[in-house]
Amino acid sequence: MGKKVLIIGSGGREHSLAWKIAQSPLTEKIYCAPGNGGTHDLGENVPIKATDPDALLAFAQKKEIDFVIVGPEAPLVDGIVDLFESADIPIFGPSGELARLEGSKVYSKELLKKFNIPTADFQVFDNADEALSYVRAKGAPIVIKADGLAAGKGVIIAKTLDEAAGAIDMIMRQKQFGFAGSQIIIEDMLEGEETSILVVTDGTTIVPLVASQDHKRVGDGDQGPNTGGMGAYAPAPLVDEAMAHKIISEVFEPLIRGLKKEGKKYKGILYGGLMIKDNQPYVLEFNVRFGDPETQVVLPKLKSDLLELMIKTTEERLEGVMLEWDPRYCVGVVLASEGYPGSYEKGKEISGLDTVAAQKDIYVFHAGTQRTEGGKIVTDGGRVLNVVGMADTLILAKQKAYQGAEMIDFNGVHFRRDIGDKGLKLLFPQAK
Ligand code: AMP
Ligand code: GLY
Repeated sequence: MGKKVLIIGSGGREHSLAWKIAQSPLTEKIYCAPGNGGTHDLGENVPIKATDPDALLAFAQKKEIDFVIVGPEAPLVDGIVDLFESADIPIFGPSGELARLEGSKVYSKELLKKFNIPTADFQVFDNADEALSYVRAKGAPIVIKADGLAAGKGVIIAKTLDEAAGAIDMIMRQKQFGFAGSQIIIEDMLEGEETSILVVTDGTTIVPLVASQDHKRVGDGDQGPNTGGMGAYAPAPLVDEAMAHKIISEVFEPLIRGLKKEGKKYKGILYGGLMIKDNQPYVLEFNVRFGDPETQVVLPKLKSDLLELMIKTTEERLEGVMLEWDPRYCVGVVLASEGYPGSYEKGKEISGLDTVAAQKDIYVFHAGTQRTEGGKIVTDGGRVLNVVGMADTLILAKQKAYQGAEMIDFNGVHFRRDIGDKGLKLLFPQAK
């Protein structure tokens, strides 16, 4: 008997997870809650929000779900893994306690310090006046971070003391992020190149996935406001074998071993957002789930069975697991709604999806889309689609991704034109 799998979430990440899980011979049926216009074709979308754990549990019990995969961080931080485990339903992800690695930046930084893992020097404050005098003593540039989840907006890179003071005021006095800002971290600014390293771990064994690079700013050349991520590519040439080794031995091993010694087994995906400076990795943040849009460029490269890998993780049987990878490059471009990351309209009809579907080595993962009753696909979010090109070289993968992106249209669509260029610059430093 195959497995009935419930995937929680509705983004491009969740569509790519569903796509990969659908390829597993272990899978019998996929449910996505709430899913999107793309996951609709891979299984059944269930109209339950990712943030409604009780309804999700009731559904899982009714349908006799065999395995649950959680996409976004909020339910993990709220302890959905503990809830499903107490009902004896296997679920992939860390406990609520360990999900604080993402849910509380203070918790995360203090663990980093305790286990001697390289990260920017920092101080924690719960008092705005003390924070201000620290910033004055330190000088700018400096980084101000709200402790809790703030939908990716809780980090301010202050170039001047005025900006830093404004950030402290906004988070601590005006309480822009509510309770998430009752504590702040002030840390040194690190300059370097960013990379995302995701590992799968069962609390003892660490299995790394290929390195990728996200593009957080809305505009080409990293200009404009931050977004959820406008595109990614993998593998990232920034992380060669020696660097990958260094990251595992200096970041992930000390963390996972240190936690285990305290009787805490981290199970699931652990995502390290790292800054590499002078050949040394520093942790900027941890996430306790797959990255979005990183997953959309990592999973097409994974040849191994993802469901089997996840089951082994929850059963603590990762020892000896070696993943098989397609050596080709993937470049993924996010097609966004007009106005994103600010406000945007929904419901714009999307054309060209069938044309792209007929292309070899171009994948489209839906994010903010919805299927109407008449069967049309319309926009339903800020980040609408991910178009992923796969090829032997990074430049060809980039060409494929943009070839696909150009075939798709909806009113107001915009996307970055330079996804992959940072990797190309590293691979071909002389080229203009
Ligand atoms: P975080 O949510 O902690 O990853 O921060 C969001 C983004 O802010 C990161 O992806 C970096 O681009 C930037 N950032 C965070 N911390 C630092 C730092 N100490 N120095 C420079 N940039 C940072
Ligand atoms: N790509 C950034 C994130 O998933 O947090």
